[in-house]
Order: sequence, then C-alpha cells, then structure tokens
Amino acid sequence: MLLCLIAGFAILKKSSSTKVLLEADPVVIAYNTIEQSNSTAYKGKSIYQQNCQSCHAINKIMTGPALNGFTKRGPWIKKENIYKWIHNPAAFMAKDSYTKNLQKEYEVIMQAFPQLSKEDIDEIIEYIEYASLPQSSLPASMP
Ligand code: HEC
Repeated sequence: MLLCLIAGFAILKKSSSTKVLLEADPVVIAYNTIEQSNSTAYKGKSIYQQNCQSCHAINKIMTGPALNGFTKRGPWIKKENIYKWIHNPAAFMAKDSYTKNLQKEYEVIMQAFPQLSKEDIDEIIEYIEYASLPQSSLPASMP
C-alpha cells in the first residue's frame, strides 16, 4: 500500500517536471528520470529553474551564455570562483577579465544571488553537469 503511494507520487512528480522542461529547453527532455539517477542534480534542477532559467539554457544562448560544460572553461575550473561569481557578479568582474569580456558581449551584468548557499550552488552545478552530458551516454531507458 505504502509502496503504491510512493510510486504514484514519484510518477506524478515526474510528469509535472517533464512538462516544465518541455516548454523551457527541448534538449533537456531526455533527463526526465533525473530524480532516480542523481538526487543531487535533481535538487539542483529546481533551484536552477527558479533562479537561472530565466536567463540561461544549457545549450542555447539567451540573455546569458549557454551553460553547457561551463565548469571546464575560464575561471570556473576553480569552484571557489563559481561561488564568488554567483554571490556577487559585479565584484567578481571588477577583478576578472574573462567575465568582464562576457559582460561586454552580453551587455548586462548578471543578477547577484547572495541568498544561495554553497550547497545550493553545488547542487546547481551538479544539475548543469548532468544536463550537459551527451544524450548517447544516458541509459537506454530514457526517451
Ligand atoms: C538576469 C539574467 C541572469 C540570471 C537570472 C542569471 N544569469 Fe548567469 N549570466 C547572465 C549574463 C548576462 C552573463 C554573462 C556575464 C554578464 O554579462 O554578466 C552570465 C554569466 C554566467 C556564467 C558564466 C558563463 C560562461 O560562459 O562562462 C555562469 C556560470 C552563470 N552565469 C551562472 C548562473 C547561475 C548558476 C544562475 C542562477 C543561480 C544565473 N547565472 C542566473 C545573466 C543571468
């Protein structure tokens, strides 16, 4: 009985999150089993959707750059820099030419998120890394 309830809830949750992703970023549709395969990334997904998705997509340039594989470029190789950037982009940019150049290209300064903890940011990073995986590397059961 309890198992049925849990399974039912999981299916409900799954279908609602898939719908949101459908509208937002078709490339991410394949990841609708994220909550089963990576719970940290799953937590990060909702924080990302609430805070980042209005300006960023994984594979498409929007108000801000596409975030696919961003941890492998520029200052983001060092995780500490990602925390500093998200907490205060303007302050980070003042001392960093990589992000200063991005700002020239995108013509706006990214909003600051001082309220996000390092743990929240770790979860966002985990989600972005998960969503950046080539689709061919995902389990065959995914659509
Ligand atoms: C209001 C729009 C906006 C929001 C919301 C936003 N960003 Fe950005 N982001 C930008 C812009 C624009 C840039 C390019 C640098 C600049 O101009 O400030 C950027 C740059 C970045 C970069 C550097 C990308 C690269 O190619 O090196 C990262 C990483 C990033 N944002 C992460 C995030 C995360 C994580 C969130 C959510 C917590 C977020 N951003 C929310 C607009 C936004």
